Amino acid sequence: MTEVDRLEEALSGSDAVLCALGAATPLRRDPALVEGVGVLVSAMERLGVQRLVYLSFAGVHASRAHLSWLGRWVIAPVLLRKVVADHEAKEKLLIESGLDWTIVRPPRLSNGPARGYRSGEDITAAGVVPQVTRADVAAFMLDTLTSDTYVHAAPSIFTGHRQRVV
Ligand SMILES: NC(=O)c1ccc[n+]([C@@H]2O[C@H](COP(=O)([O-])OP(=O)(O)OC[C@H]3O[C@@H](n4cnc5c(N)ncnc54)[C@H](OP(=O)(O)O)[C@@H]3O)[C@@H](O)[C@H]2O)c1
Repeated sequence: MTEVDRLEEALSGSDAVLCALGAATPLRRDPALVEGVGVLVSAMERLGVQRLVYLSFAGVHASRAHLSWLGRWVIAPVLLRKVVADHEAKEKLLIESGLDWTIVRPPRLSNGPARGYRSGEDITAAGVVPQVTRADVAAFMLDTLTSDTYVHAAPSIFTGHRQRVV
C-alpha cells in the first residue's frame, strides 16, 4: 500500500478536511509540505471530498498589510520568508483547485485557553506582535467548516472580541 493509498483510505467517507500541515522549522523550505498539499488536493478531488479548511499564516503577501510594521517589514519578509513562500505555494494549489476551500490566516499562535477572536478578510492586527490562541483558531476552523461564509475566501484571525467582518 502506498502513502497515497493510505491517504485515500483516510479520506474516503469524509465530508471535509482540516489541514494544519506545517514546517517543523521556519529556517528552510520544505518541498514535502507543498507536495503533500498537492497530493491531498488531488485525492480530495478524486474522491469527491469537497470542503477543505487550510491553516496558513497572516504574513503571506496577500494579507501582510494588515500586520504591524514589524510583521510587515521584518517578521514576514525576512525572518519567516521561507515559511511564507511554502504557504504561498500551498495556497496557490488550493485556489487553483476545484475544492470549496477556506484559507485561515493567523499571526503568532499561543497556547492556553480560548480568549475570543476577530475574523475577516479585511481586519487589521492590534499590537506590534499580534497573537491568537490555538484554541481560538481551532474553534474558528471548526465553525468555518460547516458555514458558507468563507468558502473561497482567506480570512485573518486575531485575538479580540468575537465578531465576524467579511
Ligand atoms: N506556530 C505559530 O505561531 C504559527 C503562526 C501562524 C501560522 N502557523 C502555521 O500553522 C501551521 C501549524 O503550525 P504549528 O506551529 O502548529 O506547527 P506544528 O505543531 O509543528 O504542526 C505541524 C504539523 O505538520 C506535520 N508535518 C510537518 N512536516 C510533515 C511531513 N513532512 N510529513 C507529514 N507531516 C508533517 C507535523 O507532524 P508531526 O507532529 O508528526 O511532526 C504536525 O502535525 C503551520 O503551517 C504554521 O506555518 C503557525
